[in-house]
Amino acid sequence: MMLGELADIGRDPVRGGYSRHGFTAAELTLREWFVEAAERAGLQPETDRNGNIWAWWDDRRGPDALVTGSHLDSVPGGGAFDGPLGVTSALAAVRELRAAGFAPARPLAVAVFVEEEGGRFGLPCLGSRLLTGALPAADALRRTDPDGIPLAAAMRAAGLDPERAGAEPELLAGIGAFVELHVEQGTLLAPSGAAVGVATGIVAHGRWRFRVSGQGNHAGTTAMDARRDPMPAAAGAVLAAREIAVEHGSRATVGRLRPTPGGTNVIASAVDFWLDARDDTEHRVRATVDAIAAAAHRLAAAEGCTLDIVEESSSGRVDFPAPLRDELAALLGDAPQVPTGAGHDAGVLAAHVPSGMIFVRNPTGISHAPAEHAEPDDCAAGVRALTAVLRQLAR
Ligand code: GLV
Ligand code: MN
Ligand code: MN
Repeated sequence: MMLGELADIGRDPVRGGYSRHGFTAAELTLREWFVEAAERAGLQPETDRNGNIWAWWDDRRGPDALVTGSHLDSVPGGGAFDGPLGVTSALAAVRELRAAGFAPARPLAVAVFVEEEGGRFGLPCLGSRLLTGALPAADALRRTDPDGIPLAAAMRAAGLDPERAGAEPELLAGIGAFVELHVEQGTLLAPSGAAVGVATGIVAHGRWRFRVSGQGNHAGTTAMDARRDPMPAAAGAVLAAREIAVEHGSRATVGRLRPTPGGTNVIASAVDFWLDARDDTEHRVRATVDAIAAAAHRLAAAEGCTLDIVEESSSGRVDFPAPLRDELAALLGDAPQVPTGAGHDAGVLAAHVPSGMIFVRNPTGISHAPAEHAEPDDCAAGVRALTAVLRQLAR
């Protein structure tokens, strides 16, 4: 399996798994790997103004191009499959088609999108959202990573010109369909006995940064009733988020929390934490986040602290178009159709281009963690499925 060629790139010795964020050394190495692998497969790789890579079958570009692909970046301490499985499967499918002498009747490309996870700059689907204009370049370029490096500087260091970042309507208009293969991030396929399935849609989701500010002070000399400690307020808000999400039937997660300055014997002056909230509709997500925000304001005030909340991203619900879904499912032997709670570049492109997704079974459902897994036989079934889909859609 081609995924093996990536096994040593971007391993995280502290968290386990992989940390391969956009425009870091690990991700740049993966991008170089992709360009070489694409060239070996006879493709013509080109980087767009936002850093997404498009490896074309031949000299043809749009109109009505068929595109497949995914991303190479990961969450902090992520698994091996989320993203790279879609990219390596796309290359493998192209190699199969070439070996069989297939001649696509329309332009065809394998795409790699920048920073799908938003693990570095906090913006999920960064490359596809810049491409489509869903994210204005000026907003994105202002974002900084946890070390304070702006996206613009990271792009420059990667050989891109941030002044040219932003919507690429011509490139987008040349795409006629997009199909992304991805490891399943749940266990909906397992009961059906199917190695591959087709996505119905993606729930609405968003990210918010909460900052609770108090008074930094000495842990030993400050009486318990004389503190303005943001940490108990933040802790209370995390518990409230869980309770409110359960009550509302939403999903709410705080997976990242950062005290300032962060010393064992120091009462923090501020605590930042990030809320990820998801539900069937954007309206339901907002209702859940509003309730969590109200609880967090009360908890902060009770500790003599203040709270600011910044929305970092928001993605509406996506329903993949039924004609393409049904065509994919029929081609794959009546493959089951399942929804997902995970975001994808296919969800961003779906607003502009008929898009669909193929999922490869994940025996435990674990994802965004080192234990993420798919069996080699199922990955091979994924490549066969994608090959069949490309063959059919490019006949
Ligand atoms: C990306 O995988 C996400 O759903 O956040
Ligand atoms: Mn992911
Ligand atoms: Mn992914």
